[in-house]
Amino acid sequence: PPQPDLDLASLVRTIPDFPKPGIQFRDITTLIGDAVGFAESVRRLSALAAVQRPDFIVAVEARGFLFGAAMATAMGLGVVPVRKAGKLPGVTIGVDYELEYGVDRLELHEGAVLPGHRVVLVDDLLATGGTILATAALMQSVGAEVAAALFVIDLPDLGGSKRLEVAGLACETLIAFDGD
Ligand code: PRP
Ligand code: MG
Repeated sequence: PPQPDLDLASLVRTIPDFPKPGIQFRDITTLIGDAVGFAESVRRLSALAAVQRPDFIVAVEARGFLFGAAMATAMGLGVVPVRKAGKLPGVTIGVDYELEYGVDRLELHEGAVLPGHRVVLVDDLLATGGTILATAALMQSVGAEVAAALFVIDLPDLGGSKRLEVAGLACETLIAFDGD
């Protein structure tokens, strides 16, 4: 049953100094390991997604897969994976994006999303916004319409939510942690 009063933030574990000193790592493994917490997270994300009437859920490797796949089954939709470079076996379309140090690449199977398709993007966490903006750019490059980007966690201090707003990408999150 729905748990509207459940405090999802209390189920996210904080690990200090990972992956490097000074970083407070927000660990979703404790949230998804809790049956009620995971189900409620997926329910809330799915409710936000359903408003957008998407044709597909687009989930970002790796942690975005956990939530996006569960949402897709709950909503009766297919899920389209956006993967890190070299993982998808078919013909791909890729986009390079900036990391704190260096660049990375995300890929999409050609034909997985077609012009005019309406999609909701899903990831576990919004930090600088680089990952989701790259994913949105991939969608736009194939002519799909990005209805919204949904996250479990926002770290507003890292500026991603602001960048998305500036880019005109609608964004909703279940939890925010300040002070990151
Ligand atoms: C993390 C997180 C988001 C992204 C957020 O993924 O899961 O996808 O970073 O950061 P950004 O907003 O600054 O782009 P990461 O690439 O660390 O790996 P994983 O999901 O494969 O574990
Ligand atoms: Mg990720």
